[in-house]
Amino acid sequence: MEMENHIVDPIMPKHVAIIMDGNGRWAKQKGKIRTFGHKAGVDAVKASVSFAIKNDIAVLTLFAFSSENWNRPVEEVRVLMELFKLVLSSEVKKLHKNKVRLRVIGDISRFDAKLVDKISKAETMTANNTGLTLNIAANYGGKWDIVNAAKTMCAQVQDGKIVLDDISETLFHSYTCANDLPEVDLLIRTGGEQRISNFLLWQLAYAELYFTDVYWPDFSEEVFLQAVTNFSERQRRFGLTGEQVCS
Ligand code: FPP
Repeated sequence: MEMENHIVDPIMPKHVAIIMDGNGRWAKQKGKIRTFGHKAGVDAVKASVSFAIKNDIAVLTLFAFSSENWNRPVEEVRVLMELFKLVLSSEVKKLHKNKVRLRVIGDISRFDAKLVDKISKAETMTANNTGLTLNIAANYGGKWDIVNAAKTMCAQVQDGKIVLDDISETLFHSYTCANDLPEVDLLIRTGGEQRISNFLLWQLAYAELYFTDVYWPDFSEEVFLQAVTNFSERQRRFGLTGEQVCS
């Protein structure tokens, strides 16, 4: 039974990650420049956050800018950076009001000082909120995350803070970004491509993958509902047999 994009008794994913793809093609289809698509994508971001809040999803991680996106045309990168600043300025208070805890994961040291400052203020303001954790992956790469974790861990071995035998999956996990968050249950990718594109690699180990042809600016609460409904119909076995899971 569904009510206004609110599922009454589903198996809800705790952590949903989204690769927001298709902004450029959406704009091209309309005879507009690519950045028009990114601007339209902001409304889809708002719809996805709204759906996550209404449905008590604990964590929503959005891939806003990958480490590889720096190679895009300079003007497109500039507009994306301006858009991030604009959205932070206009939305943080509303997010805070809705008890959203905002976090940015990725190497933000390459962003300009103003953006870094806005990110830091937004994170501080919302740090103690207990509702949705909204993770924005910015200048993020899954391989970067893993290498970063490995480097930190090796440094600690070198300094004698941990020994080789302490290293386990749990310990490794503790050095990755978003180490305090549940693993991703559902990954959604819009825009028709079916790949991970160096997004969360470690954290996607047991995620269910959902691909849709919908371009990101057309993503809506209805499309989110379709993805979650599809997720709730799947049997997650985590390496067990179907019989074991059902017993
Ligand atoms: C991918 O589409 C989209 C991006 C690289 C940027 C996503 C950014 C936004 C939706 C803007 C606002 C976001 C936040 C979190 C404030 P694409 O350009 O690769 O599309 P294409 O594959 O059709 O070229």
